Amino acid sequence: MSIRFDENKKTFTLETAHAAYQMMVDRDGFLLHLHFGDKLGGGSCAGLLDTGYMDFSPAPDIEGTYRNYTLDLLPQEYPVFGAGDYRSHCMNVTLADGARNPELVYASHRILSEKPVLEGLPGLHGACETLEITLRDRWTDLEVVLLYSVFAEYDAIARSARIVNRTGAPIRLHAALSVCLDVQESGFDLIHFWGRHVMERQVERTPITHGKISVDSVRGTSSHQHNPFVILCDHMATEDAGRCWGVSLLYSGNFVACAEEDQSCSCRVTMGINPTGFEWRLENGESFQTPEAALVYSGEGIGALSRRYHKLYRRNLCRGEWALKQRPVLINNWEATYFEFDDDKLVRIAEQASELGVEMLVVDDGWFGNRFDDNRALGDWIVNTEKVRGGMGKLCERINALGMKLGLWFEPEMISEDSELYRAHPDWCLHAPGRGKSRGRNQLVLDMSRKDVRDCIHDMMYTVLSSANFAYVKWDMNRHLTDVWSAELPADRQGELYHRFVLGVYELLERLEGEFPQILFEGCSGGGGRFDAGMLYYHPQIWCSDDTDPIERLEIQYGTSFGYPISTVGAHVSASPNHQTGRTTSFHTRGVVAMSGTFGYELDLRKLSEDEKEQVRAQVKQYHRQYSLINDGDYYRLLDLTAQKDISAWEFAAEDGSRALLNIVYIHVRGNCPPPVLHLRGLTPDASYRLTEDNGREIGVWTGAALMNAGFRPARSNACYPAGATDYAAFQIELERID
Ligand code: DGJ
Repeated sequence: MSIRFDENKKTFTLETAHAAYQMMVDRDGFLLHLHFGDKLGGGSCAGLLDTGYMDFSPAPDIEGTYRNYTLDLLPQEYPVFGAGDYRSHCMNVTLADGARNPELVYASHRILSEKPVLEGLPGLHGACETLEITLRDRWTDLEVVLLYSVFAEYDAIARSARIVNRTGAPIRLHAALSVCLDVQESGFDLIHFWGRHVMERQVERTPITHGKISVDSVRGTSSHQHNPFVILCDHMATEDAGRCWGVSLLYSGNFVACAEEDQSCSCRVTMGINPTGFEWRLENGESFQTPEAALVYSGEGIGALSRRYHKLYRRNLCRGEWALKQRPVLINNWEATYFEFDDDKLVRIAEQASELGVEMLVVDDGWFGNRFDDNRALGDWIVNTEKVRGGMGKLCERINALGMKLGLWFEPEMISEDSELYRAHPDWCLHAPGRGKSRGRNQLVLDMSRKDVRDCIHDMMYTVLSSANFAYVKWDMNRHLTDVWSAELPADRQGELYHRFVLGVYELLERLEGEFPQILFEGCSGGGGRFDAGMLYYHPQIWCSDDTDPIERLEIQYGTSFGYPISTVGAHVSASPNHQTGRTTSFHTRGVVAMSGTFGYELDLRKLSEDEKEQVRAQVKQYHRQYSLINDGDYYRLLDLTAQKDISAWEFAAEDGSRALLNIVYIHVRGNCPPPVLHLRGLTPDASYRLTEDNGREIGVWTGAALMNAGFRPARSNACYPAGATDYAAFQIELERID
């Protein structure tokens, strides 16, 4: 049993492998948070509660004239605006009579032996226990049902809230967040992941001081700019030590994550749907389900936190046939041809690819309607038979005859004004009548909240996908939302549209993925603009960034690794000089970096030299050989790329310590400067390991303890090993346990 309720103390304790989560129903019925951290040895930590007097922090009505009890100081599970807690809240509601101050108190609870499915929303799955606690407004029948599913092996708790209106009249929700985590201490940092197009998930670590720090998106999607994943950690926390808490939202729309240090120097983190632009009318008898948030704790540093998320998301978030299956090495024609292709050119690229061991061709943007450039045809998901003569069935036969699979690109949520779809349905895009429409990449956004719109897009996609033996779909989204107004919603419900848009996208994904379970879906939004745990429920991999420069990718993939498994990170070798940065790097370096992801190519393989073609063959073999280590092994960030930017180093280690793969990329070589010592991880201390470079050159034999405790020093640029350690040189070193 991972969930216990102590009837006498009114305390709930959720036990995981290394941690405990504890909360209690207080004497007034409020549900207070007590602890999420290292184990408690079966004890209670109710003694931590600060029940002193605080002027300007009122006591709830039930305390009468007693002054020393205020919600404004107490740690809570689901704080509500208006009822005496002035800190950031999860719920803000107006009841039918205009009252804004519901007081949520314990009503009942039950323990389920499974994970409930959240209808229409992504969620973790798999064996677990779930605690369901119902809170009720002391004054009306407004209910909030809190769910806590315990994934004990990963020290993870999946949380969400369901707001149920039984008040007898409609109510208005202004905020309905998913999670609150109170820690009754100060001295924390917030790690978050900011970015922009072609520069996603840059790590920023900032002290939490008095006041609020929030990261959010109001772009209609999780966005390149901020990610719905944050880490709260001790000031002193490192990769290997210190307490840290991950808060990750399984949602792909507007979100907010807020970290606050309050007047009593306690810390609160909240996360959920962004209240900006959100308002929901809840009729009597209806309920509103918030998205799920996955909380993970590690008392052993940030590295362990990431590894817990990696395993949890790989095994209990990604679904379907492809979640754990080996992914094909692919060639994508985007950077090889852009819009300039026809079936013969594609087949020629595939012929070369198959000869080099590549397993799948992905036909990217430009195969449909009148799509000769990016100004037109989105929404016309009908094969352009001038470009793909004989249709997709014929192309697929030719590709399959080469022993390769075929994949196809779509951008289902978008519409071009120059399209048959727009000419037939100019009202289907998000826009308010009588107002302008802002264009992004010269395209508009379909109103995905509408069933008729989704049905139409579904039917076109279904027809194309059933016309050939497709193995893969790339689902792209190349602009953010504006003009968020729907013809289907009354004026007082337009605040529901951002969320209804996301629900509509999820519904379409669910439908198509159910109809084509054999197809591997890869998510994309101008690269990694929608790289979130919500999307990973539908797509087991996501194109990580439109920036394919391996040096830029080091930081992007580094940041992504904090919260997301390597098996989800779309990464390709592209041409050099790189199309985004103009930087020249070796084929080998591009291969080493792309191999720390779902490996593939994105260039015209026919244009490679014989030597480079030989390298493709070797890379594909190496990727196959290392596949399970990279995808199922433990991932270690060996150097902090925010503290220094001269070298990047990371390692994959088998869980049983039998082998490991060390990756080093020199970003900026400095004269006479010894490279940092790398403390390897995940090895068997007493065993010996043989270190061999990927070109077969043996480096030496060391014990696991020596490599972890004393470390491994990569040579400086002018030393004999590794030869050629110049700017942008990469080294992949295999470690094999030999006794
Ligand atoms: C953005 C994606 O990230 C690219 O890989 C490519 O598919 C283009 N869209 C096509 O328009």
